Amino acid sequence: MNFDSIAREDLPDILCRMPKAELHIHIEGSLEPELIFALATRNRIQLTYQTIDELRTAYDFTDLRSFLDNYYAGASVLQREEDFFDLAWAYLRCAKAENIVHAEIFFDPQTHTARGIPFETVINGLDRAIRRGREELGLSATLILCFLRHLSEEDAFTALEEALPFRDKFIGVGLDSSERGNPPEKFARVFARCRELGLRLVAHAGEEGSAEYIRSALDLLKVERIDHGVRCLDDPHLVARLARQRIPLTVCPLSNVKLRVFPSLPAHNIGKLLAVGIAVTINSDDPAYFGGYLNRNFIATFEALPELGAKEAYQLARNSFQASFVDESIKDGWIGALDKFFEEQISIRNLCHS
Ligand code: HPA
Ligand code: ZN
Repeated sequence: MNFDSIAREDLPDILCRMPKAELHIHIEGSLEPELIFALATRNRIQLTYQTIDELRTAYDFTDLRSFLDNYYAGASVLQREEDFFDLAWAYLRCAKAENIVHAEIFFDPQTHTARGIPFETVINGLDRAIRRGREELGLSATLILCFLRHLSEEDAFTALEEALPFRDKFIGVGLDSSERGNPPEKFARVFARCRELGLRLVAHAGEEGSAEYIRSALDLLKVERIDHGVRCLDDPHLVARLARQRIPLTVCPLSNVKLRVFPSLPAHNIGKLLAVGIAVTINSDDPAYFGGYLNRNFIATFEALPELGAKEAYQLARNSFQASFVDESIKDGWIGALDKFFEEQISIRNLCHS
């Protein structure tokens, strides 16, 4: 495809309208302040903030830890199955409006079971929203269970045991929370067990942790995708391996700036990652906390980085489908629709110019 006829000023519209998948979204991170207040009222929970604006103002993070404190506190309003349904339903409606055709959604069961909420309450609420999304919105979505890495290996095994009766409701496992001091190897045995069970494997690595964490996640956990992974550029051998083995990175630009992984969007390395041939995708991570859902991440990143144009937009959307955990025939269908979308964009412009 020749993308030359697509002008820079047309990119925001194209980025919003192109079909795409989102592969790195924490459902608890899509909990908007408005829903926090509504659920607090419904569940008779006293919040420490008086107003929605006051809560939003507290979202001024200095690093991953300071964000996670807010994120876990916010999640405490989620109590009943209905609450988890409302949370996921709100995200899915937003995803539909953003032309996301497939979402692989993280959830953190230990954040809830530690507060006495049964695992089944969490997963049944999320699953019901996903099924409704499929029927009413025509949106494909699946769940990935994340272990909290600041907790012990034993806790992760307990979470896995609790989840197994619901094995058909999630497709894989991931690893999130504070990276520093909690290297991948801490969870090598849990991930080995998950692999035996046929679960798909991903892990956060190389967000605040070093490139070495990416290497360990690949070699010791045997993950198929790396969440974030932006620190890989510190290690040229690792970069070559990621590109050669087509190991996808789920990059989250607005998150990276909010948590000061990069000082600003123009300083982000996503353009370089793409240029060296790594299968990069763009994602929102925790959209309620980081200033935007997926389309805002795309638009802001393309505005900030002049090296990103229509070709890269196509490549990022294509990567998102390629990197997803669905059958090849389904991927082919989505990529076909993406090709058709871009071919139409190009032919409309060629008509105008001829
Ligand atoms: N990093 C680690 N843990 C998380 C994140 C993140 O960006 N979001 C939610 N939990
Ligand atoms: Zn994340």
